[in-house]
Amino acid sequence: MRIIITDSYENMGLEAANIVAGQIYLKPDSVLGLATGSTPVSMYQRLAAVHKSVGLDFSEVTTFNLDEYIGMAPENPQSYHYFMQEYFFRHINIRPENVFLPDGMADDVVAEGNRYEKLIAAKGGIDLQVLGIGQNAHIGFNEPDVKFAATTHKVELDEETIQANSRFFKNSDEVPRYAISMGIKTIMMAEHVILLANGRNKAEAVYKAVCGDVTPEAPASILQLHRDVALILDREAAALLPASIPGVPIRRK
Ligand code: PGA
Repeated sequence: MRIIITDSYENMGLEAANIVAGQIYLKPDSVLGLATGSTPVSMYQRLAAVHKSVGLDFSEVTTFNLDEYIGMAPENPQSYHYFMQEYFFRHINIRPENVFLPDGMADDVVAEGNRYEKLIAAKGGIDLQVLGIGQNAHIGFNEPDVKFAATTHKVELDEETIQANSRFFKNSDEVPRYAISMGIKTIMMAEHVILLANGRNKAEAVYKAVCGDVTPEAPASILQLHRDVALILDREAAALLPASIPGVPIRRK
């Protein structure tokens, strides 16, 4: 694990975008794992800007998103399908046939999870997985008490997640209770992982991910066991981390 601490939300996005762009320059047909939420927006904006200014080419890139709400059609503005189009895909030259998200409308969620896993494997696995983190240290929608061995599966959202996500809805009653999410195993099989976090409300989750026990109570703590993971934080999200951590290089930018 390594940590990059930046001085702003924009610079967190810039650092993350540099890593994603580097991945694509080195391997134009990269398979990216992508996240939704407010955290990665500055990264997507920066990547779109690099595409526009110097032609960063997404034409060979394949993407798999972490999750989708169950019962949410792609054209619903609250869906993660819609979010990705709005914030990223419509600004770059990715091919629609290379874009994958779990189908929240699937009748058989178990079969959908299996289909998604097979698709990822058929594309050669995920080269670089982008993650956010929940206030409860979830990654994807893998909530506390997760089974570390799970692949893409149906999840019941935590009350804390429902409250956090209610800011995107009229009220918390409208937040879906279930989602389909890549599992911890899916995430851990990615070649490289970057986890982004900004804001003071993520500081405890970041502390647990980096310094806490590896436990299903804090799903992101499993990343301590990943062979290549970088945490890209702003100062607020890094506020509870000690100045130095044995075995974890920290770069301040
Ligand atoms: P956020 O969500 O980026 O909207 O804070 C992150 C997450 O819940 O994983």
